[in-house]
Amino acid sequence: MTRPPLKVIAAAQAASERLADRHTPFIFNDWYVAAFGNEIKDQLLARTLLGRRLVLYRTSDQQVVALEDRCPHRSMPLSAGTLERDTLVCGYHGLRFNAQGNCIEVPSQSTCPQNVGVKAYRTHERGAVVWIWMGEAGEADLSKLPDQDWMVDPLWEKSQGFLSLQASYVRLHENLLDLTHLSFLHAKSFGTPDYAKAAFQSELGDGQFALLRNVVPTTLPPVWAIPTGLTGQGQAARIVRSAFRSVGIHEVSVTFYDCQLPESERPTFRIRTAHMPTPETATTTHYFIVHGRDFALNDPDTTQFMHDQLFVAFNEDVEGLALQEQALANTPPNELYEFSVAADAPAVAMRRYLLARQQKETPSASSTCK
Ligand SMILES: [Fe+2]
Repeated sequence: MTRPPLKVIAAAQAASERLADRHTPFIFNDWYVAAFGNEIKDQLLARTLLGRRLVLYRTSDQQVVALEDRCPHRSMPLSAGTLERDTLVCGYHGLRFNAQGNCIEVPSQSTCPQNVGVKAYRTHERGAVVWIWMGEAGEADLSKLPDQDWMVDPLWEKSQGFLSLQASYVRLHENLLDLTHLSFLHAKSFGTPDYAKAAFQSELGDGQFALLRNVVPTTLPPVWAIPTGLTGQGQAARIVRSAFRSVGIHEVSVTFYDCQLPESERPTFRIRTAHMPTPETATTTHYFIVHGRDFALNDPDTTQFMHDQLFVAFNEDVEGLALQEQALANTPPNELYEFSVAADAPAVAMRRYLLARQQKETPSASSTCK
């Protein structure tokens, strides 16, 4: 047996067509991370989000401005211009735009045309990150941004980082809902052999998908064992919830405790990781990460140790997903098929949801996204 019979491949291909993938047009009516707040200063930052070129800057009253990065006069990127008193001056012919994107000055004439400008996007800074609504600014709905209380809670010690992913954001969301890969892709970092075989439960809701896994008893990898002191063989419980919260954020919550102590005597240690993928293009993704813990507070050495160890693991995902993307891109479409297993249930449901969201938003969009 090598490849399955053609009718089995055809059925697998038909099932895949009901899932979002790198060909699915983007979902614009939602919140995505545009940048970490500390990236945006009183200077121009060019960034492509969801295939749209934007220019970002911070005004003197600390508001984050996000504008379309193309002068409507002769299409010079506005990010190649200058920022003057909270307004943006095009570097080609000097047209000036205010923070709302309106053209307010044309140097070569005394009057400025009315109703000419660039698209302005709604932004919302919360904790370390700046969120952006990629649809029409007037339709921005803060109630659609999942709560992230721990990310703004000073009692959670936090660190942050960024990775450039050469793969579709859909596959990153899928990766995060499929933690069986910890035993393999992360065998040398934070995975353990028992992880893939541990019992799991799926939670499939309306736009909310989660995978729960209790790995008990287990031996913790150094990234968790050293800061918690749970260094013994088979000493620890590792209780994991991986949750797709929205198209812009996936949250992993983990509780550790000493499973050899009675419940009343054992301290618990909690970590959370916000994985925030923002598509750049169909096959490249800005990968923003905030990690937090509720123990070893005010301990910068532990923060640095955990951050370094975690990013070894997150880089394994980035490298693995880039290889996967290359394999997908280099397989003739008629020969490409994938099959799913039981542990894929939350990821399959999530990809169906993304496709349904996109089709509802732009029913006439083509099925290809470049
Ligand atoms: Fe991973």
